[in-house]
Amino acid sequence: MLQPDNAEIVKATAPVVIEHITEITKVFYPKMFANNPELLNVFNQANQAIGEQPVALASSIVAYAHHLLGDADFDFDAVIDRIANKHVALAIAPADYTVVGRNLLEAIGDVLGDAVTPEVACAWGEVYWLFAVDLISAEARIYQQIERTPDTMLTDHEIVAIEDAGTDARTFRLAPVDGSEPPAHIPGHYVSVVVQLRDDYRQPRQYTISSAPGTSTIDITVRRVTGADGAPDGAVSTYLFDRSVGDVVKVSVPVGDIRVSHGDRPLVMFSAGIGVTPMAAILSAARAQNSDRRLLHVHADADVAHHPLREQVAADIAALPNASGSVVYELNEDGTQGGLVDVAALDLPQDALYYLCGSVPFMQYVRSELIGRGVDAGDISYEIFGPDLWLGGSASSQASEEELARV
Ligand SMILES: Cc1cc2nc3c(=O)[nH]c(=O)nc-3n(C[C@H](O)[C@H](O)[C@H](O)COP(=O)(O)OP(=O)(O)OC[C@H]3O[C@@H](n4cnc5c(N)ncnc54)[C@H](O)[C@@H]3O)c2cc1C
Ligand code: HEM
Repeated sequence: MLQPDNAEIVKATAPVVIEHITEITKVFYPKMFANNPELLNVFNQANQAIGEQPVALASSIVAYAHHLLGDADFDFDAVIDRIANKHVALAIAPADYTVVGRNLLEAIGDVLGDAVTPEVACAWGEVYWLFAVDLISAEARIYQQIERTPDTMLTDHEIVAIEDAGTDARTFRLAPVDGSEPPAHIPGHYVSVVVQLRDDYRQPRQYTISSAPGTSTIDITVRRVTGADGAPDGAVSTYLFDRSVGDVVKVSVPVGDIRVSHGDRPLVMFSAGIGVTPMAAILSAARAQNSDRRLLHVHADADVAHHPLREQVAADIAALPNASGSVVYELNEDGTQGGLVDVAALDLPQDALYYLCGSVPFMQYVRSELIGRGVDAGDISYEIFGPDLWLGGSASSQASEEELARV
């Protein structure tokens, strides 16, 4: 809860802060990297270049201010859970919040100038620290659950096998170099992989574990990102595609905010492209447990060659008593024009949970069709392979249609 005086100030100044929040975050990041260059290794620099992380941070602060003022119309715990898991995957520590807070509040002053009186600075400082405390405590709980600290989050893993998983997709099997068993994961969990791109520069990326828990390796399936229209090739996926068996990368303990992989309710999964990875893990885990849960997997892809993990997923579905799958290609195997997923035409089980993973426009289409068919929005969850510019479709998301279309 905000102090009553600060709540009044935040309410009065929220419109001007919200109007300038994207500008503020654009000032904030360069300022923070200039003051703390070691953080260039912690933040995804492609997200900075294409502007997604500033938008995600801005959206979350606006959403939090609405939440504090009591006019948020969505589940903020889910937002905290998503950000906290991402932070833990990146080994963020409580002390880092002081650095971020100092630079963010300075950036607010830089952008808003004289409008930031000491009282206004104090009120927005309280918003920041209330958000920080919520995140720090959520992160502390996750670190405790996985029995790690920020210092022990990332450990060396050897690439013990590399397998083709479709056009421009490969599965990398990773094993801890100290010979220990990989930590347990829930299907849908992801790891951060941190690679040394130059002597003085490393970068993290997240990859969903594409295999079931309980195996001797952590398997990730990576799509190689090729730069288009003069943009560079993907830094980390290209680095991984250049690796060989025996090479070593740093890998975090698996984490994630997925809530649907266990339970009795039917689960309907929609994936597109490399978004198949969490679905593959869920299906493999179900098969390993002889699950009789009703599982329906709908996958969309460019064509059969691009369909990642096609054989693994098909074999798991065939082995499960209550699972079925359907696949839609834009280009059919016989070269004829295919189609797109048509949610209205699907026979959906009663009382199902829904899980989506693919591009944001794909997920927005599926979600709005499901809601149109009477599905409760609370039964639909999703994974975005980048910063969440969408926040579950909350009204406070600052992402424009143009920004969403780029994801
Ligand atoms: C929770 C989660 C799970 C994920 N799971 C998977 C998974 O299972 N499999 C998978 O393949 N991926 C997954 N991802 C995505 C993955 O983390 C990476 O984002 C992806 O591999 C691309 O990383 P990269 O380093 O290769 O590309 P990046 O270097 O990050 O580049 C990304 C894009 O930005 C563009 N870009 C970079 N720099 C610039 C610039 N200066 N100007 C203009 N454009 C630029 C590039 O051209 C490219 O199109 C997941 C992401 C998240 C958050
Ligand atoms: C109240 C303070 C903070 C807020 C509101 C916040 C908010 C966010 C949000 C919304 C995301 C995107 C999550 C997603 O959808 O994937 C994110 C990711 C991230 N945050 Fe924070 N954060 C805070 C503090 C910090 C701190 C202290 C650090 C460490 C220095 C940090 C480092 C990161 C990194 C590295 C990412 C991954 C995204 C990327 O690299 O582009 N954050 N944060």
